[in-house]
Amino acid sequence: MKDRGSFGSKFGVILASAGSAVGLGNVWRFPTEVGNNGGAAFIIIYILCVVFVGVPVMVSEFVIGRHTHANTISAYSQLAPGTWWRLQGVSGVFVAFLILSYYIIISGWTFFYLTESAINSLSVSRDYSAYFNDFVSNPWEPVIYAAIVMLMVHVIIARGVQSGIEAFSKIFMPLLLVIIIVLVGCSFNMPGSSEGLRFLLQPDFSKVTPSVVLSAMGQAFFSLSLAMGCLCTYASYFGPDTKLVKTAVSVSVIDTCVAVLSGFIIFPAVFSVQGVEVNAGPGLVFITLPNVFIMAFHNVPVLGYIFSGLFYMLLLLAAVTSAMSLHESVTAYVHEVVHVSRRTASSIVSISCMLLGVTCSLSFGLWSDFTIFDMTIFDLFDFVASKILMPIGGLVICLFVGWYLDKKLVHDEITNQGTVPFRFFQSFIFLIRYVVPVAMTLIFVNELLFR
Ligand code: PHE
Repeated sequence: MKDRGSFGSKFGVILASAGSAVGLGNVWRFPTEVGNNGGAAFIIIYILCVVFVGVPVMVSEFVIGRHTHANTISAYSQLAPGTWWRLQGVSGVFVAFLILSYYIIISGWTFFYLTESAINSLSVSRDYSAYFNDFVSNPWEPVIYAAIVMLMVHVIIARGVQSGIEAFSKIFMPLLLVIIIVLVGCSFNMPGSSEGLRFLLQPDFSKVTPSVVLSAMGQAFFSLSLAMGCLCTYASYFGPDTKLVKTAVSVSVIDTCVAVLSGFIIFPAVFSVQGVEVNAGPGLVFITLPNVFIMAFHNVPVLGYIFSGLFYMLLLLAAVTSAMSLHESVTAYVHEVVHVSRRTASSIVSISCMLLGVTCSLSFGLWSDFTIFDMTIFDLFDFVASKILMPIGGLVICLFVGWYLDKKLVHDEITNQGTVPFRFFQSFIFLIRYVVPVAMTLIFVNELLFR
C-alpha cells in the first residue's frame, strides 16, 4: 500500500504505543491485584511476566506489522497466503472491535465523573454506591457520555496516523504522566498515607499461588494491549529505522511504571481516611474514591476538587489513548480491505461499535436479567475477548513467529536488516517457541476451568 500513513518520529512511535498500553487496566485493576495478591511479591512476578512473556509477544507483533505494512488481517494473508493463519488476523480485529464496544462505555463513565467533578458535584456527601448504580443503569445517560468519547476518538482516528494518533499522543501522554506525578505527590502528603504504601508494597510470598502467577500474566497481557492487532497495526506505520526491541522495552517500562504509580496514588489516599469500604475494579474508582476525596479534604474542599478533577482526567486520557488503538486496528482493516476512505471507515467503525456498546450499557440496567452462560452481555464480551481470544491470540502469534516464519525474516526485521545488533536473538526465539506458548495455554485453561 503506497499512500499509507506512517509515524513521523521515534518519540511519536513510543508515545502512541504507550498510549495504547496505558489504560483503565493500569489504573484500577493493577493496584487492586497488587494489594490482594501479596504486594511487592505480586509486583515482582508481574515484572517477570512482562519481561519474559510480554516483551517477546510485543516484539513478535511488531515484526508482523512492520514487515507487511498492512492491517492485521492482510498482514497474515501476506505472510502466509492461503493458510489458516489468516484467522489470527481476523480474530485480532474482531477482538479489538468487541473490546472497543465495552471499553468505550466505561470510558463514558470516566467522562461523566470528570464532568461531575468539574461542576463540583462530587463534593457532595452521598451514597456513592447508589449514585454509581443509578448512573450506569440509566438507559440513555451512559450511552450519551460514551458517544461523546467515541466522537473524540473518531475525530482523532479520521485525521490519520500522523496528524491524528501521533499528534494527540504527543499531547495526551506527557500530560497524563505529569498528572500522575502531581497526584502521587498529593497522595503521599496525605496523613496516614504510609499505611497504604505498606498495604501495597509489603511482600507477602505466602499469597503467591499458581493462579496468582497466571493472573499476573493475564494482567500483563491485557495491560500491554497484546494479541488484539493494536500494536501490530501501529507497527505497520513504523519506519524502517524504528528499533523494535527498544520500542517494546520502552513501552513496557512506561506501562509498568504507570501501573505501579497508580497504586501509589490510590492506596495512600484510600488508607488516609478511616472507614471507607475498599472495592475492587470499577467500584474502587467510582465508589470508593469519591468518598475518599470528600473525607480526606473536608477541611480544604478546593484541594479535593483539584485532586478528583485531575484523577478523572487521568482516567479519561488513559481510556481515550487506548480506545484510539482499538479503533485504529479495525479502521485500518475497513479502510484497506473494503476500499473506503479513512473517514468513512472510521465512521463505520464508530457507529457500529456504538450500537454494540449500547447493548453492553443496557446490561447494567434494563437488560441486567438477560444472561448467557450466567453472564450479562458486558461480562460475556469481556470474557470472550480478554479471557478466551486474547490468550489464544498470544499463543498463535508466538507459534506463527517462532515456528512458521522464516527465522531470517524475523532476524532481519528485529535488527533492521542487520544494522542494529541484538544479542538475545536465540533467547528470544526460545521464549516464543516454548515458554510463551506454554504460559498462554496455562492462562487459557486456568480461565476456563476456574473462573
Ligand atoms: N491496555 C489497555 C489497558 O490497560 C487495554 C487495551 C487492551 C487497549 C487491548 C488496547 C488493546 O487498559
